[in-house]
Amino acid sequence: MRKRLLCCFFLVSAQAALTSVAHAQHKARVLLTTGWQFFLDSTGKLTQMPDNTATWLNVQLPHDWSIEGSFSDKHPATPGGGALPGGTGWYRKEFITPANAVGKELYIEFDGIYQNSEVWINGHSLGIRPNGYISFRYAISRFLKPAPQKNLLVVKADNAKQPNSRWYSGSGVYRNVWLTTTGKIAVDQWGTFVTTPQVSRTQASVHITTTLRNTSGKPQHVTLITQVLNPDGKELTQLKDTLYVTTDSLIVSHSLLVKHPLLWSDETPYMYKLLTKLQYNRSEEVYITPFGIRSFYFDAAKGFFLNNRPLKIKGVCNHHDLGCLGAAINTRAMERQLELLKAMGCNGIRTSHNPPAPELLDLCDKMGFIVMDEAFDMWEKQKNPFDYHLDFKEWHRKDLQDLVKRDRNHPSVFIWSIGNEIGEQWGTGADTSGRTIARTLAGIVRSLDTTREIVTANNEIQPFNNLILSNASDLIGYNYNHWKWDSFFHAWPGKKMIVTESVSALATRGHYDKIPSDSIRRWPEAWDKPFTKGNPGFTVSAYDNVSAPWGSTHEETLKLFLRMQHVSGMYVWTGFDYLGEPTPYTWPARSSYFGILDLAGFPKDVYYLYQSMWTNKPVLHLLPHWNWNNNDTIDVVAYYNNADEVELFLNNTSLGIRKKDTSLHVKWRVPFAPGTLKAVARKDGRTVLQQERRTAGAPHALRLIADRTSIGANSRDLSFITVQVIDDKGNIVPDADIHVNFKVAGEGKLIAVDNGSPVSHSSFKAPYCNTLNGLCLAVIQSNDRAGVVTLTAEAADLSSGFVKITAR
Ligand code: GAL
Repeated sequence: MRKRLLCCFFLVSAQAALTSVAHAQHKARVLLTTGWQFFLDSTGKLTQMPDNTATWLNVQLPHDWSIEGSFSDKHPATPGGGALPGGTGWYRKEFITPANAVGKELYIEFDGIYQNSEVWINGHSLGIRPNGYISFRYAISRFLKPAPQKNLLVVKADNAKQPNSRWYSGSGVYRNVWLTTTGKIAVDQWGTFVTTPQVSRTQASVHITTTLRNTSGKPQHVTLITQVLNPDGKELTQLKDTLYVTTDSLIVSHSLLVKHPLLWSDETPYMYKLLTKLQYNRSEEVYITPFGIRSFYFDAAKGFFLNNRPLKIKGVCNHHDLGCLGAAINTRAMERQLELLKAMGCNGIRTSHNPPAPELLDLCDKMGFIVMDEAFDMWEKQKNPFDYHLDFKEWHRKDLQDLVKRDRNHPSVFIWSIGNEIGEQWGTGADTSGRTIARTLAGIVRSLDTTREIVTANNEIQPFNNLILSNASDLIGYNYNHWKWDSFFHAWPGKKMIVTESVSALATRGHYDKIPSDSIRRWPEAWDKPFTKGNPGFTVSAYDNVSAPWGSTHEETLKLFLRMQHVSGMYVWTGFDYLGEPTPYTWPARSSYFGILDLAGFPKDVYYLYQSMWTNKPVLHLLPHWNWNNNDTIDVVAYYNNADEVELFLNNTSLGIRKKDTSLHVKWRVPFAPGTLKAVARKDGRTVLQQERRTAGAPHALRLIADRTSIGANSRDLSFITVQVIDDKGNIVPDADIHVNFKVAGEGKLIAVDNGSPVSHSSFKAPYCNTLNGLCLAVIQSNDRAGVVTLTAEAADLSSGFVKITAR
C-alpha cells in the first residue's frame, strides 16, 4: 500500500447542481431487499440449503424471523433473550447481473446478519461472519453469470445455539442489504476518513484521507476531485489531483479550509458533504461522505465541551430492537424513538452493547445526539455459553477495525466503547489478560482514529480493575456506582469521567402501587439473590420508587448528576424497554421494565421528570390517574419546571401549594374522591400550566391517534397509531384491559401491535391486541402504491375508532 500526502489548502467558492451526482451514486448502490425467499430450519441441523424451495416463504428484508414466533420459556434464548425462537434461517434470492456490470466490480454488502452467517453466490462460498452486529461485504463479480442467466444468492444465518445474548438479538438478515457497483479503480469500502483538526467559528480545516483500490490488474492514472458541499448543498471548495494508482491500493491525504463553518452540535446538527469524484477512461464515479465540523474535549474537572462550550451529555442506553418490530431495522421506527428521546431533552445515545445499524448513526448525525459507539459485551470470558467469547480471539481485530472504519465519519460519534462490564475487569493471580486485551483493542482503535475518546464501561471501579489499570482508555467509564461519583478524584486523580450506564429503575407504564409511594424498593434485593417478592400480574409501580439493587431510582441518580461538574455525561439504562432481561421477574415476564418509555414507545411518568430537568420547555405532569376506590388514600405527584410552585385542587378545593426543595418532584397525600384533580403551576403568581386527571367512567369508545397521517408510499414507511380506550366524555380509562380487533383497508398493512406489557404472550403480528392500562399501539406500513389506508379498531360493546393515513 502506497501513501501519498498532498497538503494543499484551497478556498474556492462556487455553486454546483447536485442532482446528477446524487443520481450517479444512487445507481451504484442499490438496496437488495425485495424478492427474497426464506426457510426456517428450526432444528438448526441442515448443513446445506434444502433442495425443495416450494415451501419457502416470500419475505422482504430487513427480516427478523424470531419476532414472528411464539413466546415460550422453553426456547433456548430463555426469557433473558426474549423467550422467542431461534434456529437456522436460509435466504435465497435470484437476480440477473445488471447491464452496467460489465468491466465493473460488484459487491454484496450486508449491514448485519444475526448471526454466524455464511453467504454463497452460484454455489461459491463467499465467507462466514460470526458477529451478528457487524457490517461486511463480499466481491462477487468473478462468480456472476452473464445476463439473461440468473444468479443465486444464498445466505445462512445460524442462531440455533442459544443463549448467546443477554438481551433479545433477533435472527436473520435483519439489516439492509446492498448491491454496489464500482469501477475497477474505486474508493475502497469505507474508503474516506474526514477529520476536522482545527475548528473555530471563523475557519475550520478539513482533513481527508482517501483510500483507492485498484483491481484492474494494471497501474492507471486517475483524476481525483474532492469537493465540499455546505449544509445547503452548495459547493464550498474543490481540489483536483492526478494520481498514479498502482496495482493494489493508494492512500492519499488532502486538506481544505472552510470559512465560517456551521458547527455541528446537538442543537444545530449541521451536516456537510464530501464528494469524492474519480475520473479515468472517460468515466466518473462519485463517492459521498456526509460529515460534520465540530471540536470537543473532556476535562477532568469540568466535564465535556462541544465547540468550546460546556455540555452535559444527557444520554440513554438502548438495545437495538424496535419493540414489536423486533430487530428488523426500520429507519422511521428508529427516527420515532429518537424524536421521543429528543423531546425529553436527551442528547446522547449509547449503542449498548454492539455496533448499531448504519441508519441509526445517520439519524443521530441529523438529529444531534452524542453517541457512544460500543463494540463488545464480552471479550474472552463468557457471559453466556454460546456468546461472542467463542469468536473473540479470531475475529475481534477484524470486527473492531470494520466498526471504526465504518463509523468514523459520523460527527455524532464521540466515544468508542471497547467493552461493557467485561469479565476481564477481574483476574486472579497472574491473570491480567484484561490489561493486555484492553491495550490491544485501544491500539486497534487508535490505529484508525485518534480523534475520539476510548472508554470501557466498568461496573467494577475498585483500583484492581485490570481494564482501568491498563491505562488503555481516555475516559474512565462508571456503570452505576453513583455513591462513588463524588470520590472519583481521589480514586483516579487527574482522570476524566463519564457515566457509561446509570439508574436501572423499574416500572410498568400506568401501574401504581398505593402508598407509601416514597418507600424505595430494590428489586431483587441483591443481584445474586432470587426475587421472591413482587406484585400480582408481574407489575412494578411507576412512582419512580423501584430499582435494581445495583442502580437507583431515576430521581436519586438525576440529583447527583446535575450537581457534579466532573461527571461529563451519563447514559441512563434505558431509553426504551427492550425484549429480554425482564428484571426483576422472570418468566412469564419476557421484556424489560427499565425503559423511560415502554416497549410500545409510550412514555412512563418519569419521561416527564427528565423533560422537566433536561429541557426548558414548560412541563407540568401529574400522576397517577384518578380512578380509585372511595377509601383509598393516594399519593399525587407532580413533575414541573419553569414555575415556583404547584397548587393541587380536588373538585375545586385546594389541597395546598407545594414547592420543590431538595426533591425533583412535589407530592400530596390525598384521600380519594371521584372527580377532577387539577394541578396549577405558577411563576410569580401567574399561571404557567395546568393539568387535570379526571375519574373516568366505563369504557365507551376507541380513539385512534396516528403519529403521522401522511407517509411515503415506499413499502417501508410507518405510521404509529395509539389506540385509547375512552369513556363517554373522552377521558382515557386508565385501567382498561380490553381486547381490540384491527381491520385495515386500502394501500397499507398492519405489521405489528403491542401494548407495552412485559408479560403479554400475545403475538406482535396478530391483528388484535389487548390494551394495557387504557392504551395499545398499531403499526401501519405503506406498500408501494399511493393512496389511503384506513385502520379500524373494534372492541365488544364499544364504539369503533378509525384513522385514515395517506401514502404519497
Ligand atoms: C448492566 C448491564 C446492562 C444491563 C443492566 C440492567 O449491568 O451493563 O447490559 O444488564 O445492567 O440493569
